[in-house]
Amino acid sequence: IGTLVFENSTKASKEVAKEIADLIKVKQAQKQPCILGLATGSSPKGLYAELVRLHKEENLSFKNVIAFNLDEYYPMEPDSMNSYVRFMKEQLFDHIDILPENYHVPDGLLTKAAIADYCDQYEAKIEALGGLDLQILGIGGNGHIGFNESGSLQNSKTRLVALDHITRVAASGDFSGLENTPRTAITLGVKKIMEAKRVILMAWGEGKSNIIKASAEGEVTSRVPASFLQEHNNATFILDQAAASKLT
Ligand code: F6R
Repeated sequence: IGTLVFENSTKASKEVAKEIADLIKVKQAQKQPCILGLATGSSPKGLYAELVRLHKEENLSFKNVIAFNLDEYYPMEPDSMNSYVRFMKEQLFDHIDILPENYHVPDGLLTKAAIADYCDQYEAKIEALGGLDLQILGIGGNGHIGFNESGSLQNSKTRLVALDHITRVAASGDFSGLENTPRTAITLGVKKIMEAKRVILMAWGEGKSNIIKASAEGEVTSRVPASFLQEHNNATFILDQAAASKLT
């Protein structure tokens, strides 16, 4: 796995935005769609701000982009405060020229009985487009990628998962208390993440330094799902100095 360390998250995020912009332009020149896997949370906010800037100030068009978000809480209303649909619209989609039919966030409103088929179709859509060209990831303090919590297998599919206690605690501030925090979510499985042609995991701050070390240099184990990325042939951890501070 590659690791790239930047002075701060702003500089790092700009670099990731540049890679995405270059990929979008290559695909445009080839008259091909650009298939992006996207994440929510605090880590990609600077990236999305820079992509919006590139659209507004440097004419970067997202008309050929087809995006698939990693996850959504379940149950979740799309226009609710903490929905990942709302997050993506506010941070990115409402400010660029991506076509509304070209972005996908897992549906938090399905009936339980409909989830399994929906997840299969979510993967089938990605496969029909030739797979993800680039997957953006953050990392949970427990090593989760998407909501593939500790114990998720390398070949796990897109599915409904139970959120770890530590994940719920991390989210509980947004939901004003643990008792209001969802217990389950729909997440893209590890398998589709591993099949992406390129994977970029972003992590900032001292609080992520231990899990970054375990993921990049520790044993490859389902206890730390991000460690599976050691077996990906084109994955890079993009870090600030604090997140990289425990690496040897
Ligand atoms: C979000 C996601 C999660 C987050 C992770 C880190 O779509 O899939 O895995 O990337 O929980 O969250 P932040 O960036 O808020 O520290």
